[in-house]
Amino acid sequence: MPTYRGNRGNLLQHWVLAELLGCLREQGIRKLCFVDAHSMSPTPVRSAKAATDQTAPEFDLVRSRLADGRSAYERAWLALSQALPSEYPSSAAFVQHFCGNNAQLLLCEADRGTAEHIQRWLSRREGDAASVELHRGDWRERFRRPIPAEVDAYYISFDPNMYDRHDVRSPRPENMYSSDVTIVADATRQLPTVPIIVQLSTYSVNGANSQSDVYDDLVPRFTELNLSATLVRADNSMMSFIFSRGLTLASDLESRFQSWLA
Ligand SMILES: C[S@@+](CC[C@H](N)C(=O)[O-])C[C@H]1O[C@@H](n2cnc3c(N)ncnc32)[C@H](O)[C@@H]1O
Repeated sequence: MPTYRGNRGNLLQHWVLAELLGCLREQGIRKLCFVDAHSMSPTPVRSAKAATDQTAPEFDLVRSRLADGRSAYERAWLALSQALPSEYPSSAAFVQHFCGNNAQLLLCEADRGTAEHIQRWLSRREGDAASVELHRGDWRERFRRPIPAEVDAYYISFDPNMYDRHDVRSPRPENMYSSDVTIVADATRQLPTVPIIVQLSTYSVNGANSQSDVYDDLVPRFTELNLSATLVRADNSMMSFIFSRGLTLASDLESRFQSWLA
């Protein structure tokens, strides 16, 4: 059964997504291509490892109060928790909720059982089957082929276990490395000149990957592509980078996330 942890990082990932989808809507984006390199099941169950997670109580508190939540994220989570039903709906499920059939989905999922769950969810989706693609395998393979064109904007999401700025001898497919950014950059260069958001999250500073070192490593790689950078830190280890072009995004996401969580 596909699982989720239920921690502060999970809140960060989807709170940021919901806020940015709101920005896209306000800026008149209709047809969005949502690309998730790390997709997950829309209906995962809580991992047994959650008990060891220090920030699990925060996650549980937010989840227990969804009915009183005022953010777009909490309202969407509540609706999806009843409709799917799901304790922790995936990013793709949030996109579907906010954008409906205006969203084109390109979902990569390396785990075979999880991909089956995604396929079952997609087959229940109404609308044009051509607007959905499930890549059953490593996102790196799929990013070497063309990404759908004829959309108003892209939202490309990377949710690895961590970003490791060192190219190690035995890379873990679930992590991202500096060499992976080259694959992302090459794919981004092929996209039409429409607005783009790239959300890239990392949850660990282990292995000499302090937040400032990772910032110094990643940001120039994306500014080279004419994307500007915003950072949303959840704490001293978990953070989401938002790289974007052609859009005006709020610069206070980090302080708003932290006050929302407080
Ligand atoms: C943390 S979950 C992603 C959650 C997702 N971003 C969301 O919020 O809906 C990571 C998922 O990525 C998948 N995954 C890990 N490494 C991958 C890879 N190299 N390519 C594609 N999928 C991968 C895992 O099987 C897992 O389902």
